[in-house]
Amino acid sequence: MSRIAYVNGRYVPHAHAAVHIEDRGYQFADGVYEVTTIHGGRFIDADGHLDRLERSLAALRMAPPMSRRALKAVMRQMMRRNRIVNGLVYLQVTRGVARRDHPFPEVSTSSLVLTARHTPPFDAAAAGGVDVITLPDTRWKHCDIKSVALLANVLGKQEARDAGAYEAWLVDDAGYVTEGTSSNAWIVTGAGELLTRHADSAILNGITRQALLGLAADEGIEFAERAFTVAEAHAAREAFLTSSTSFVKPVARIDGHALGNGQRGPLTSRIAAYYAEHLDAPGSAA
Ligand code: PDD
Repeated sequence: MSRIAYVNGRYVPHAHAAVHIEDRGYQFADGVYEVTTIHGGRFIDADGHLDRLERSLAALRMAPPMSRRALKAVMRQMMRRNRIVNGLVYLQVTRGVARRDHPFPEVSTSSLVLTARHTPPFDAAAAGGVDVITLPDTRWKHCDIKSVALLANVLGKQEARDAGAYEAWLVDDAGYVTEGTSSNAWIVTGAGELLTRHADSAILNGITRQALLGLAADEGIEFAERAFTVAEAHAAREAFLTSSTSFVKPVARIDGHALGNGQRGPLTSRIAAYYAEHLDAPGSAA
């Protein structure tokens, strides 16, 4: 079955889906995006993603391309037309096509593009963990906006891959871990404290991160939202990373420092199991 993409009001074969070369997304990365998980044929935490999309759009002073209701209908169409049971929908809004000039064009119609793809479902009991390296955080100062300006993230991810790692955790000037290049970072300290950085402009406030904080609160797992240093990460008992595509992924090593026994730690296992329940819970889907 051929993949279908959505481009500015039309469902088109993925292989022929295109936007104009003077789209400001292409010229300036002048756009925002969202990635929403599909689990068991349902969108997970879609309202969280659409709230953040509205927030990102407002930060770029762009109007939503259509109502939330209409956007959800397009997302559902994309799931249906691509026959996705487990996977994701990628959605990007740019300021649209205009003659190349840095200031916002006086008149422009935003471009809206959606793609969908299959991905393996979350396995909360998967054995082993992934490797992470740490890198200086050279990204811009508004990481809370889900901007498509991802060059620093792309370079960081490639450096991780070149080092044989799954992800790079980025480090600010004061030596604190901010987040991964496309995920949020979590550790369990030697003292057993569950930590993830507080959500400020240094990180993207992950929808998965927010879901996990809610689950931890519900289950009486103590946590703190505070920055942790690279040294704390190296000395952690457990660590994991979260995103709509990586779900809850245990970390085995950070910069070569082995955590625990290299397998999922007990708290990571508990949290992964709660997240798996969250994926199946009726209330999490749109
Ligand atoms: N990225 N931090 C960054 C920099 C991210 O790019 C992402 C997600 C996250 C986690 O956010 P969420 O839990 O809402 O997916 C944190 C998506 C998956 C991507 O770029 O493909």
